Amino acid sequence: MKIVKSIAEWREIFDDLQEMSVGFVPTMGFLHQGHMSLVRRSVAENKITAVSIFVNPTQFNNQSDLDCYPIDLHRDRQMLSDAGVDYVLEPTYDELYNDGFRYRVSEHRDSLDLCGATREGHFVGVLTVVMKLLNITKATKAYFGEKDWQQLQLIRGMAEAFFMDTVIEGCPIVREDSGLALSSRNKLIAEENKAIAPFLHETISSGLSVDEMKNALESKGFKVDYLKEKDGRIFVAAFLGDVRLIDNVKR
Ligand code: PAJ
Repeated sequence: MKIVKSIAEWREIFDDLQEMSVGFVPTMGFLHQGHMSLVRRSVAENKITAVSIFVNPTQFNNQSDLDCYPIDLHRDRQMLSDAGVDYVLEPTYDELYNDGFRYRVSEHRDSLDLCGATREGHFVGVLTVVMKLLNITKATKAYFGEKDWQQLQLIRGMAEAFFMDTVIEGCPIVREDSGLALSSRNKLIAEENKAIAPFLHETISSGLSVDEMKNALESKGFKVDYLKEKDGRIFVAAFLGDVRLIDNVKR
């Protein structure tokens, strides 16, 4: 497995990969089995798999959330190498944002709802970094998790809107046995809240009305950011202490 830090170097490598199918999995690192399910699918479906690890500051609307974001590069690289990944792309902010974030990709309808309603600028940061990464990797297929359902739909929409060649693949949510969706942020959940966290998935799967679900979560100590039924799914974001958890299920 080759670790590539410089974008110029990656572009050289890609020129030699022209004829091969390249699968790409963008991540912010601190990998878990949710990420690895995307990686495994890419390794199975493509000749070459590249994974990026980049904690993208432009998609954080809260400085302390960015500052607390967990990092373990050494462990991530080991997991990726064990999974048969060919390249890990670890760009620096200055190289990736060579324009100082003057150029931005924005969507003006669906990105304003759900996570976009309370995390101002979040999806502009996501779409911009994903566009950059897809242009650099020129991936045949790129893999995204349904855990971030809204993100997946917006990236699909961007790829269509800008006639991008990469096929966007969605992958199912990986959960703990308790039902809690795996997330890098789970590590930040306080010890006393760990047993409460699975109640998020249990509640949105319960068949109650949206108002009843909200009350049930609040009675357990969650602070609900949004809980909404849309397109036949239930979407939720809720704080447990300082940690913001999101999930979604088919209604
Ligand atoms: P990150 O949160 O690291 O997630 C990387 C990918 O893993 C995303 O596509 C996400 O949906 C997927 N993923 C995370 N947890 C999952 C789970 N439990 N089951 C299935 N898939 C899961 O999402 C981002 O990073 C960033 O916004 C990024 C796309 C990399 C742009 O910066």
